[in-house]
Amino acid sequence: MGKILVTSALPYANGDIHIGHLVEYVFTDIYVRFLRLTGQDVIYVCASDAHGAPIEINASKRGVTPQQLVNEFHERHFNDFTRFEVSFDEFYSTDSPENKKHSEIIYLRAKDRNHISERDVEQFYCDSCKRFLPDRYIKGICPKCGASDQYGDVCESCGAIYRPTELSDARCSLCGAPPALRTSKHLFFRLEDFSEFLRDWTSSQGRLQDEVRVFVNTWIDQGLRDWDISRDGPYFGFKIPGEVEKYFYVWLDAPIGYIAATEHFCSGKNDRTVDEYWLDHDSDVEIHHFIGKDIAYFHTLFWPAMLKAADYRLPSAVHVHGFLTIDSRKMSKSRGTFITARKFADNIHPWYLRYYYATKLNDSIDDVDLNIEEFVNRTNAELVNNITNLISRSIGFLNKRLDSRLGRLPDNSGDFQAQALDLMTEVFKDYSNLKISAATRKILSISDMANNYVQQNEPWSSVKSDPEKARDDLTLAINCIKLITIALKPILPSYCARVEEILETGSFKWEDAKFDLEGKTIGRFDKLIGRLEPGAFQSMVDAASDESDRSSKIVQNPLTPLKDEITIEDFAKVDLRTGLVVSASVVEGSDKLLKLEVDLGMETRTIFAGIRESYNPEELQGKTLIIVANLKPRKMRFGVSSGMALAAIGTNGKAVVLGPISEVGKGAIVR
Ligand code: MSP
Ligand code: ZN
Repeated sequence: MGKILVTSALPYANGDIHIGHLVEYVFTDIYVRFLRLTGQDVIYVCASDAHGAPIEINASKRGVTPQQLVNEFHERHFNDFTRFEVSFDEFYSTDSPENKKHSEIIYLRAKDRNHISERDVEQFYCDSCKRFLPDRYIKGICPKCGASDQYGDVCESCGAIYRPTELSDARCSLCGAPPALRTSKHLFFRLEDFSEFLRDWTSSQGRLQDEVRVFVNTWIDQGLRDWDISRDGPYFGFKIPGEVEKYFYVWLDAPIGYIAATEHFCSGKNDRTVDEYWLDHDSDVEIHHFIGKDIAYFHTLFWPAMLKAADYRLPSAVHVHGFLTIDSRKMSKSRGTFITARKFADNIHPWYLRYYYATKLNDSIDDVDLNIEEFVNRTNAELVNNITNLISRSIGFLNKRLDSRLGRLPDNSGDFQAQALDLMTEVFKDYSNLKISAATRKILSISDMANNYVQQNEPWSSVKSDPEKARDDLTLAINCIKLITIALKPILPSYCARVEEILETGSFKWEDAKFDLEGKTIGRFDKLIGRLEPGAFQSMVDAASDESDRSSKIVQNPLTPLKDEITIEDFAKVDLRTGLVVSASVVEGSDKLLKLEVDLGMETRTIFAGIRESYNPEELQGKTLIIVANLKPRKMRFGVSSGMALAAIGTNGKAVVLGPISEVGKGAIVR
């Protein structure tokens, strides 16, 4: 059996992972886990996409190096993926020596073979920022519809696509100055040289979904334009060998990151090498890419052409999925539907999302809609009431009434078993064909069969007259639970691991999908997952939308009307004191709060303050703040908060803590 390499697109290390991204990573992970379960030698690699202008600009705005910014996001992303049980074998970075090496090799080989040309390009340059401006960093008036404040490449109001030079009143979006045109030499990859090859490659069986092949072919028909692969500094990326102050465009080295990650994974292992994955043409390793439809051009045209130009191996298949919509609309910050992975997991168990996505995923490029009402209803009805309930009822009953011991499979259950095993065969095919949603329907059918069987045979009645009959009936149910667990493992790995623990069977493989659990003793049922509150998702959305309202208003300093007048006596009720921060620490599981130990002179208090976004703990240590000292202690999820630190909202929309402007001891009265 040949080896398989599976990849997900490399997330930009420039912002948080959100539940839209998770469509892709959960999808890929389900497929990878299915392959592992069936005994395939599969590795799943990914990396941070570290390079590019936005990362460089963002880092310079925040006063850190691009590397620091990238490392920070790399770690955040890895934690988010781990919470959602995305099981990369390697999560590397495109800013790595391996990636530099392969990028240079690929470029130089393409150049040697005359697939690189050069030409002068006129581009906007901002004199005050001292940089060429990428299209996204130019704003102006749309030449088509006249909408103001539109990007240099596309109008969000009318959808027109144009060149930045066509905008009227163009401005640098970083500083507002009008940019000027400047000429600079750029390097181009001659994609047209590969038209015939690409037509051939894209049309081989199994390479692309039919609907993808259709639009890729129209791209080829329209003629393939040279691809600009160079950028002028300042830029965060690899320098182009043999050029002065030119860098590879981020999209040149990004997919090469798949190779770099593979190499990093293989290094030091003696059962695999990067060559057999990417270089050795005699190898039979399969390469599968999973990507969203927005980056199909890069993966179905540029990428295979680059690999071909440099004589590397080519992907076996590119699997394209659609975009996440929420209640049929694009994710939106102001509607509160732009939900980060972190926020989701802080509010709702990731199992629900993995299960729900599984019920939606298939091999089409249609958008994936998360309908909020359906999310709650379906996960409750299927995962909780149907599947989990079967498990808890059957095992619970055996625990309580039948000494946790299985009997024999009922003699007359042959047809039942055959039918369930047929469904398992179908589930196997569905997974193999990436029809995850169809697989979930069949898993549910097995659960239905088992639930109905138990319902009809009423072990709770027969246990009194014929306990062995009850035991045998439940034995059939437990064997169904085993099949369901095996089939669900790719979707809900840690949930299924708990069921395996309860059944005391060890970790199942796909080949264990048989009716063969008889006579053994099983462990005790332990809570798996409860019903999701009907409003759980909506309240997360509402909170996020409020938050976005607040932050967008506050930054512009709205004229908030004053509250009702109070008397000096009213004010005197508030006991304000200065407090010295003796220690500050982050709160595990919260990206809002910092835990402060504040010395008020007479005592030291623990205060949880919502200022994590504004400060690192070490910045606050030793600072004197103003504390509301007689505020009723408040029990929070992470502990009791005894008091409150005063803060104002800064111009960046984030909290700024308040303290005395010259030295004041701790515990001083403030009035
Ligand atoms: N860095 C590039 C990929 C380089 S691959 C050599 C990139 N990064 S991304 O962070 O913007 O997106 C990563 C993946 O997530 C892409 O495949 C993208 O299509 C997918 N998604 C991003 N937003 C998405 C949704 N809202 N819905 C579904 N998938 C989405 O592109
Ligand atoms: Zn500027």
